[in-house]
Formats: sequence, C-alpha cells, structure tokens
Amino acid sequence: MQNSPLPSFWFFIFLISSILIRTDGGEATNGDNKVIRIGAIVDSNSRIGKEQQIAMEIAAQNYNNTSNTHKLALYFQNPTNEPFTTTSLAEELIEKQKVQVIIGTQTWQEATIMAGIGSKTQVPIISFASPAITPPLTPKRWPYLIRLSNNVTAHINCIADIVHSFTWQRVIAIYEDDAYGGGDYGMLQLLSESLQHFGSMIEYRLALPPLSLLSDPSMLIQQELVKLVKQTQSRVFIVLHSSLEMVNFLFREASQIGLVDRDSAWIIPESITNVMDSVDKSGISYMEGSLGIKTYYVENSSQYKDFQGQFRRRFRAKNPEEDNINPGFYALQAHDSIKIVIQALEKMASTRSDLLREILSSNFHGLSGDIHFEEGQLLQNPTLRVVNVVGKSYKEIEFWTQEVGFFTGDDAKSSTQGLGGVVQWPGNLPRNPKGWKMPIKQKPMRIAIPGRTAFSKFVKVVYGENPAENEYTGFCIEIFKMVLDLLEYDLPYEFHPLNVTYPDLVQLVYNKVTSLCFN
Ligand SMILES: *[C@@H]1O[C@H](CO)[C@@H](O)[C@H](O)[C@H]1NC(C)=O
Ligand SMILES: *[C@@H]1O[C@H](CO)[C@@H](O)[C@H](O)[C@H]1NC(C)=O
Ligand SMILES: *[C@@H]1O[C@H](CO)[C@@H](O)[C@H](O)[C@H]1NC(C)=O
Ligand SMILES: *[C@@H]1O[C@H](CO)[C@@H](O)[C@H](O)[C@H]1NC(C)=O
Ligand SMILES: *[C@@H]1O[C@H](CO)[C@@H](O)[C@H](O)[C@H]1NC(C)=O
Repeated sequence: MQNSPLPSFWFFIFLISSILIRTDGGEATNGDNKVIRIGAIVDSNSRIGKEQQIAMEIAAQNYNNTSNTHKLALYFQNPTNEPFTTTSLAEELIEKQKVQVIIGTQTWQEATIMAGIGSKTQVPIISFASPAITPPLTPKRWPYLIRLSNNVTAHINCIADIVHSFTWQRVIAIYEDDAYGGGDYGMLQLLSESLQHFGSMIEYRLALPPLSLLSDPSMLIQQELVKLVKQTQSRVFIVLHSSLEMVNFLFREASQIGLVDRDSAWIIPESITNVMDSVDKSGISYMEGSLGIKTYYVENSSQYKDFQGQFRRRFRAKNPEEDNINPGFYALQAHDSIKIVIQALEKMASTRSDLLREILSSNFHGLSGDIHFEEGQLLQNPTLRVVNVVGKSYKEIEFWTQEVGFFTGDDAKSSTQGLGGVVQWPGNLPRNPKGWKMPIKQKPMRIAIPGRTAFSKFVKVVYGENPAENEYTGFCIEIFKMVLDLLEYDLPYEFHPLNVTYPDLVQLVYNKVTSLCFN
C-alpha cells in the first residue's frame, strides 16, 4: 500500500501559512518593511500627555529612519474614565487598527480592563500606572500587562523621611479620588506603615472627589477644609496624588483660609512637581514654600542631550503657547516605552520568540533609568530629588535614596542627617515649621493646673482680684517657663486653675478642653 505523502504535505503547508497569515494580521508590509502598529493612549489635553506624544513620536521616527526591517506606526487615542468606553477603546485599537501592543494607560483601572482584553487577544499592554500595593497574583491574572511605572514605595518612603527630618508627629493625607473610590491605590496604607517606623501617624485623610464630577470645586474644597481645620491639629499636608487642576483649586482655597502659612508644611507628588514649570504662574505662587519630589535622571548623557534637542524643537513647533519646552520625567518614560518595543522586535528577529516574552525580558539603559522587569513590574530603586517651590519657580535641593537617605551632590557620598537646604517655607517662616496648629494670641494654649494642692512646692496659685492677677509659682511652673525660653518661637498660653481631681485634669486634656496639665 502506498499513500502519497504529497496531499498531506500540501495541506500542512496550507495550515502553516494560514496560521502565519492570521498571527501576522497586525503587520502590514511596506515594501520590504513590516509595519508594527502601536496603540498609544495619552491625554492630548494635558501637559504630560503632550510631552508623552512627542517623546513617542521621536522614538518611533528615529527607528523608522534607521531600520531596514520594521517601521513603527503610532495610533494615538485619548484615555477614557468609563470602564465601558475603555473596553471599546481597547477593542477598537486591537480589532480595527490591528495594533500589536498598547502603551500608556494612566490609571490602574484602565490598565486592568485593557489587560483583560490584551490577554484574550494576546496584545501586550504597557501601563504607566500601577497600584502602590500590587494585588496578589497580578502576573497570573493579567499576563499581558507590563507595568512601566514609578516605584511608589520609594516615593512614600521619601515622604516619610521628610516628615521624620522635621519630627512632625501627625500629617494630613490628601488625594483626589477616582470615580470608583479606589483612588489611593494603597498609598495611604503604605504611608501609614512608613510613618509608623518613626512614630508619626496620619491624623486625617481628605479624599476629594474627581474634579470632573464637581460643578463648584472651590465651594466643596472650602467646606472640606473648614471641616478639617476643626478636627485636626496637624498642619503637615501631604498630597498623595491629584490632577494639576485639582491641586490648583486646593492650594487657592487652603491659602485663603490660612493653611498655606506659617508653621504649615506641604508636600506635593511627582505628577505635580514635573509639570510645575508649565502651570499658570499665578497657580504656582499659592504653592510657595511647598516641597515636591521628582525622580532623578541623568541629564548629561549624549542619549539624553540628543533627545532633549529633538524634543525642544518639536515641542516648541507644536505648542508655541507653552513657556517651558523641556521634557519631564514622563516624556522620558514614554520614549523608553517605544524603545522597549523596538528592542523586543530586534531580539525577535533572532530568537523567534513572541513580543510579550521579549518585552518582559527587556534589559537596557533608558532615558528614564534602567529598564528591567520582574513579574511584569519595572524594577526601579530610584534616586529621588526633593524640590522646593520658591517664588514662582522651584529649586532642586537634596537627593534621596532608600539606602543613603538624603544627600547633597549626586554622588551619594555627602549624606545629610535628614532633609536640609529648604530655602522657603509657607508664610516665609525663617525656621522649620512645627507642622502643628499653633496657639495664637487670640486663642492661647490652655493649661490646666490644680487650683489647690497639698504640695505648693510644685504648683501654687495665689489668687488675685480677678484671674488676670493670679500669681502662679512652684517647680512645675518654673520648668515650664524655662522650656518656653528655649523655644525659638512665641507660644501664647494661659493657666486655668481648677479644683478637680488629677484624673479629671487629665480627662480635660484628653477631651481637648486644655492642651496640657500640671499636677
Ligand atoms: C526622520 O526622517 C524624516 C525624513 O528625512 C525627517 O523629517 C524626520 O525629522 C526624521 N525623524 C527623526 C526623529 O529624526
Ligand atoms: C514610520 O513609517 C511607517 C511606514 O512608512 C509609517 O506608516 C509610520 O507612520 C511612520 N511612523 C512615524 C512615527 O512617523
Ligand atoms: C555625568 O555626570 C556624572 C555625575 O556628575 C559624572 O560622573 C559623569 O562622568 C558625567 N557624564 C558625562 C558623559 O559627562
Ligand atoms: C522600590 O524601591 C524600594 C526602595 O527604594 C526597593 O526596595 C524596591 O525593591 C523597589 N521595588 C521595585 C519593584 O523596584
Ligand atoms: C479653688 O480653691 C481655692 C482654695 O480653696 C479657692 O480660693 C478658689 O476660689 C477655688 N477655685 C475655684 C475655681 O473654685
């Protein structure tokens, strides 16, 4: 019996080629070059989005101009806030535009929705967002999700170190929520844990609704701040994350009720620090004296200088209304995201593995730092830079790493004990702020003392005609006055002699009727 092998052989070839054609669906050819389509989701209305778009175009065109095998085509889309439209956006990019990779989701929710569709269609999703605390099984649940995002832990630890530097005991955490109430993405929890190491704590958290849901943001923020003033002692404000627009409203209202003033401190996140150059200058003046955190990157490499030159030229041409034409960190990261795809394509030529696997095994020096993933997450132990808003601009002050803490000069050798070098604090305070609601003359600190005691050596009250003429003597009173002399600031106070038991005195402090008591 002889069966010709030919028919099954041809059938085999037919099968292979149809599979190849199907998997090649996203690659159009252009002469000898394969065109790789990339979906890019950037907010073309925001400064960050404008920077990201130009940075991606530069990376892709440079590659187009030099590669003989592939070309990159970018398909830009604006992000959406609704899960439903996020889904259809992803489907549109994948099914209609035939993109082979999607870059640039800005919120964790958007990233996970896209990653779900990415898994089904085998399209890798490179996200700029990731939560502070990675949910368990993330790489299993979303195998096509690559998180090219900042190390939130490092940023939070740096904030906690700033708080510790000035021995602030309590802080107020502020963030703009997303529409689904998950806006802090674990940042609060990380901050709380990080502060605990130094015995500090979050006294209050102010979750602001997303700006898009507010008809009168000023009014709402004002009401929230009035509530906050009544309920809190701390005056250390940490903005964990927020849109620039929301931060502008926040600072304006907070300034008006005197919260960006003497003895308060404000810390703003990288998303704000990075775009500070480009905000409306009247907005920045409300932030005077704030501290901000930025990711440090090398600016003297030829790779950076090349990029910067191209970026400035294009940015000016496209956005003539913007004063600042320098790329921020997010632009560098966007540039690197395209670099990741390019490197993966080049490796695929020799390894014949797939795009996802090659992206996950990226390993190169990017403009934003080293690009290397573990379980889909960028490994980044960053050097951070603390900046101080001074006048209508800002000054870069000290550096920070997890290992060294704060240091001056970028070689990590000149470690400082805590953060120094702050040029300006809110209200032009000439010393470090207490970060605490300070007693003022109109509302002095109330100190309860026993009105009659068996041990007059400790506290003695000699009653005058009226309370203002009372005389207070004794060891405790003297110690207190000596301490006052040591303080570098004025502390208005008044004594309140009370004929109650010691536990009752303590109870008064506990109920915040008085701030202190002697016995
Ligand atoms: C690529 O080449 C084109 C045509 O020569 C040029 O206009 C463009 O500026 C180049 N792009 C980059 C990023 O060098
Ligand atoms: C690169 O070249 C391809 C093919 O000519 C073109 O479709 C694509 O738009 C180019 N990419 C960019 C970023 O200009
Ligand atoms: C860039 O600056 C760093 C630190 O100041 C220095 O060590 C390095 O040699 C500089 N590189 C170039 C290319 O100038
Ligand atoms: C984030 O930074 C911290 C401290 O700087 C480091 O210990 C940690 O490994 C980093 N995480 C990632 C995913 O790079
Ligand atoms: C407390 O006791 C002292 C001495 O007995 C008395 O002079 C004073 O008036 C009392 N104060 C009050 C607030 O009752």
